[in-house]
Order: sequence, then structure tokens, then C-alpha cells
Amino acid sequence: MAQVAISKVAKAFGTVKVLHEVSVDIADGQFVVLVGPSGCGKSTLLRMVAGLETVSGGTITIGDRVVNHLPPAKRDIAMVFQNYALYPHKTVEQNMAFALKLRKTDPAVVAERVKRAADILDLNPYLKRYPRQLSGGQRQRVAMGRAIVRNPQVFLFDEPLSNLDAKLRVQMRTEIKELHQRLKTTTIYVTHDQIEAMTMADKIVVMRDGRIEQVGAPLELFDRPANLFVAGFIGSPSMNLLKGVMRKGGKPGVDIAGTLFPIGDNAAQDGQAVVYGVRPEHLEIHPDGVPAKISVVEPTGSETLVFLRFGDGEMVALFRERHDFKPGDTLTLKPRLDQIHLFDAETGQRL
Ligand SMILES: Nc1ncnc2c1ncn2[C@@H]1O[C@H](COP(=O)(O)OP(=O)(O)O)[C@@H](O)[C@H]1O
Ligand SMILES: [Mg+2]
Repeated sequence: MAQVAISKVAKAFGTVKVLHEVSVDIADGQFVVLVGPSGCGKSTLLRMVAGLETVSGGTITIGDRVVNHLPPAKRDIAMVFQNYALYPHKTVEQNMAFALKLRKTDPAVVAERVKRAADILDLNPYLKRYPRQLSGGQRQRVAMGRAIVRNPQVFLFDEPLSNLDAKLRVQMRTEIKELHQRLKTTTIYVTHDQIEAMTMADKIVVMRDGRIEQVGAPLELFDRPANLFVAGFIGSPSMNLLKGVMRKGGKPGVDIAGTLFPIGDNAAQDGQAVVYGVRPEHLEIHPDGVPAKISVVEPTGSETLVFLRFGDGEMVALFRERHDFKPGDTLTLKPRLDQIHLFDAETGQRL
């Protein structure tokens, strides 16, 4: 196992810069997730760690070696791709054994490593089958098995669950997390799915347009997003982000579309343009709340999502208990004062 240091790494394809001096430190044994919208540079960064893309600037260190100019095979990493990239004409067993055979590993060692991977991944019944005879989830497991047998210092995953249906995705994400708890191999995992990032990561790196927006533990990002982008990206349903103006004449409040929303002590100036952030689950029904009219009710069984309008504004509230709400009803909603996020409307930074 090894730590990985990505230090001021930049990437340009021709004249187009797609990564701008990105730095991430990954501790030995840590599970780090790179998350961000499509096109933000996640795969490019991962492929640079793998040695599949050249580095335009900065350094990548694996263990105590700078690997910028090492070919992939010498980096002691194993990568799992979204499309699995299995050999169609090899069986499950042969797929898993192939990389070791190429390296002329002792056949006894190959057999032992394949057996261990098959045990870990519950692949024993399928060892003689070909990829086309497997379900998507089983193929995904073979791709992971192929990575495990190599006993690498670092696992690299690029959106490995994107081709699976929703239910299997949830199951496989638990399996990968469990696998990491067992093997404790340093892992870099790329996804565009913030729920995957939240549930799997020790540490999340939120990226946008080739830059890092914030790095932190999942709940740190959830509880204290550093800017509007992270606030809107992390959490489902998304945080309400309401544009308004700070009023500090009397009791502080934010004027949003003519309605005054309560807020505690804060760093904004009177009259400053701000964005008031409150998660749907942090709006409570309270007689002193802000009146808002229900437009749509979405019950999921375990919770109810309610879309509301107040003046020109709109917001979403989430309730875990059952209510008999109807479109057209008016609710008075009070944001929980300890759960309000305030951002500068111009810079988007947390205040
Ligand atoms: N080989 C390439 N040549 C030119 N541009 C590329 C190449 N690979 C990726 N890009 C561009 O780099 C940016 C980042 O891509 P990528 O790392 O694949 O994003 P992500 O994995 O976050 O969706 C995108 O704008 C993409 O079009
Ligand atoms: Mg990608």
C-alpha cells in the first residue's frame, strides 16, 4: 500500500487547459472520491495517475516515487473501468489470471491469487464462464477481481457502477466499500454521482471545470459547503439557494422576494446581496414561519417532498413524518437557525 500525492498537476490537450494546478493528498489506505459534473476533468486526472495520459505540469507521487515518467505497468496500480474491458474470449478465471501470467508469475501463485479473489467476490460458481454469460454485476465483479489479483499499491476506479441498474448500483457500492475495509488498499474512485461519493468516501474532492472546489470528509462538505457550487452539488434533494438582501436594521433577516427569512449572527453587511441556503429537511412547520403555498406534493412513502411558492420565490421542504398536504394549502415554514448557510451572491463564497 502507498500514499499518493498529486501536486499542482496541470493538463492541457493542445492549447485547451482541462486541469489547472490540482493538488490532492491521499493517505495510505484512504478511500478518496473525485466527484464533479461530466467534463470537469476527473477521468483525465485518474488516467494521469495511472500513466495513461502524460502530465503537462506538476508531479504525481505514488509511495515515495515520482511517477510522472513511469509507464503504467511500473506504477503498481490497478484500474477498473466503467466498461469493464474484459477479454470476451477468456473465461472468468483466465481474465483474472491474465495480467499475472503476462508477468510470468509462478503458476502456483497465480492460482492462489485467483482463488482468493474469487472467494472475496463470490465468483467461484462462474470461473469457467465467459463474460457474455454473466450479468452486469458479475462482470463488474470480474473486473474488480482482475484488479485484486495484482495486489497493487493503489486501486483506481473510473465510474465503475455507471452501467448498472439503480438497485445493483446500491448493492455494488456497499460491496466495494466492504472490500476496501477488508483489503485497506489506497483507492481513488471517480464518479459524477454525489450520493456514491457521500456513501463511499473517507475524503471527497469536489471538482468543477478542471479545478478543485472543496476537499473534505463527506459530512464536512454537507454541513459546511465552502461555496455555492458545493452547496448545490452535495445533498439530495438539493439545498434551497435563495437570492436575497441582508437586512440588519433590527433583528437580522434576509429579504427574499419581499419575505424576511430569519438568520442568526453573521458576517454579511446590511444591504449586501447574499444567497440564503437551507436544506429541505431543515424547514419546520411553525406558527412564526414564512407563509408559502404548496404547488406540488411528492410522497415517496418514507418521506414527503413539498414544492412551495412564496411571492416570486420557490422552495422545497422535506418531511419524514406523514402529512395530508394538498396543492393550494398554505404552510408556515421556519428554517432551523443553526442550519442556515449564507453565501456572498457575487463571489459565491460562504460568509
Ligand atoms: N484526448 C483528449 N483530447 C482533447 N480533449 C480531451 C481529451 N480527453 C478529455 N478531453 C477534455 O477534457 C475535459 C475533461 O474530460 P474528462 O477528464 O473525461 O472529464 P470527466 O471524467 O470529469 O467527465 C473535457 O472537456 C474533455 O472534452
Ligand atoms: Mg470521466
